[in-house]
Amino acid sequence: MLSSVLAVAADTAHAVNPWVAFAYLVAGVCFILALRGLSHPTTSRQGNRYGMVGMLIAVVTTLVTHDIASLPEILIAIAIGGAIGFVTARKIAMTDMPQLVAAFHSLVGMAAVLVGWAAYLNPGAFGILVPGTLDMGGGLGVGEQMVISPVSRVEMGLGIAIGAITFSGSVIAFLKLAGKMSGAPIMLPGRHVINLGTLAAILLLTAYFTQDQSLWIIAAVTVLAFIIGFLLIIPIGGADMPVVVSMLNSYSGWAAAAMGFTLHNTAMIITGALVGASGAILSYIMCKAMNRGFLSVIAGGFGGDSGGGGAGAAKTDRPWKRGSAEDAAFMMSQAEQVIIIPGYGMAVAQAQHVLREMTDLLKEKGVTVKFAIHPVAGRMPGHMNVLLAEASVPYDDVFELEDINGEFAQTDVAFIIGANDVVNPAAKTDKSSPIYGMPVFDVDKAKQVFFIKRSMGGVGYAGVDNDVFYMDQTMMLLSDAKKMVEEINKALAD
Ligand code: TAP
Repeated sequence: MLSSVLAVAADTAHAVNPWVAFAYLVAGVCFILALRGLSHPTTSRQGNRYGMVGMLIAVVTTLVTHDIASLPEILIAIAIGGAIGFVTARKIAMTDMPQLVAAFHSLVGMAAVLVGWAAYLNPGAFGILVPGTLDMGGGLGVGEQMVISPVSRVEMGLGIAIGAITFSGSVIAFLKLAGKMSGAPIMLPGRHVINLGTLAAILLLTAYFTQDQSLWIIAAVTVLAFIIGFLLIIPIGGADMPVVVSMLNSYSGWAAAAMGFTLHNTAMIITGALVGASGAILSYIMCKAMNRGFLSVIAGGFGGDSGGGGAGAAKTDRPWKRGSAEDAAFMMSQAEQVIIIPGYGMAVAQAQHVLREMTDLLKEKGVTVKFAIHPVAGRMPGHMNVLLAEASVPYDDVFELEDINGEFAQTDVAFIIGANDVVNPAAKTDKSSPIYGMPVFDVDKAKQVFFIKRSMGGVGYAGVDNDVFYMDQTMMLLSDAKKMVEEINKALAD
């Protein structure tokens, strides 16, 4: 049944129809516009719409131009999947997005494995049989046997391998991100040798599969790929998981592209390549913004705990000043300009709405308020932008690192809420620091700094102490971010 349903998309005769090619081209353009739209909060909704239209065109074109074995089965599958996606999207909390994305990637990976296996078990339905040019044994002469085309076997082997790696890797990423498995890196002895050996075995078996289409070969590729996906992700620490999720996103795209070749479906090839390339670029950008080598993330072992307590935990014996909500309210209401730097703690506390109220109160008092967003603040790309957009903070008040960093020297108050690493001057001065080289906000140049966090003992993702805590102009506001901002708002309103 599965193979007949999947074979819907596999009719090569229609793939060359110019109207089908045109429709797929339009869908591809929509996907490119979607990616472009998603690159900025102001255009992201429009980007999503382009993506939806492109997908609708691709699916409808595929359905109406192919001999459909069973439309009800397809419609039932779409209804079940659509309903699950709809309910999940409405219920999911923003801080749980990374694990949801990981879970979805695992489904794409599994789909690629199933398509590959369906094509292997029922190659006639996929139009990938050619007259045999290989000795298939059983006394059948060469040329008398219909066999799976060698090109399709390569596509099948790669599609199944990438899909299986994506599946098991995404399952581990999901478990780590959801806290159902320890985020600590699990380091197997000799893991690099094991991983390289397994990858080499997968490639060699896929190459051998072009000569011999025996079931054991494709079964071995599948099992080894499931294992390597698992092995590649377990040594990666919880805090590096967002990069890994983005990388798995890229894998899932390549798996879909490989599926597209198996199904002879250009729309899938285009879409898969777009997802694969954009995921790879995003992983690279994230690594660069964190000053982490891409290969060192993949090799694993860093960022065992996403929440602090690392080796360089705050040294509370150094003198520091504690401030109150009233101090912060008073100083900010007297300021000409306040720059707010939100980070992971704002997301944890869900303080974005009260923060928006605070900016409104300050603006009413004639204070200029700006938001400074670091590219890796929080735990996923665009994390802060999404939360601020959710709280209806005007886009014009939100600035990227390079656009606002020069302003701190002329700023009265830097208001740090739940951020830590992204304002740590050690990134500029301490070569031994794990965040050395990461661009950070120059908050130390502001006349007054307010720093909201829950305790002096807590550290950021990198687990290092922060000199900003101990600066003369810094006042620590130790509290849950939402609670502290609520108190500040009360003081501002009085
Ligand atoms: P972090 O450096 O992780 O610091 C978070 C801060 O929030 C800590 O000081 C923590 O201190 C505080 N906090 C936690 N819960 C809080 C609450 N309920 N109320 C108030 N404060 C709270 O955050 P950041 O500055 O956003 O930096 C992000 C880090 O994550 C960077 O190192 C980046 O490289 C890394 N990273 C980012 C990404 C992406 S794509 N964004 C991906 C992977 C890794 P307490 O515990 O004392 O409260």
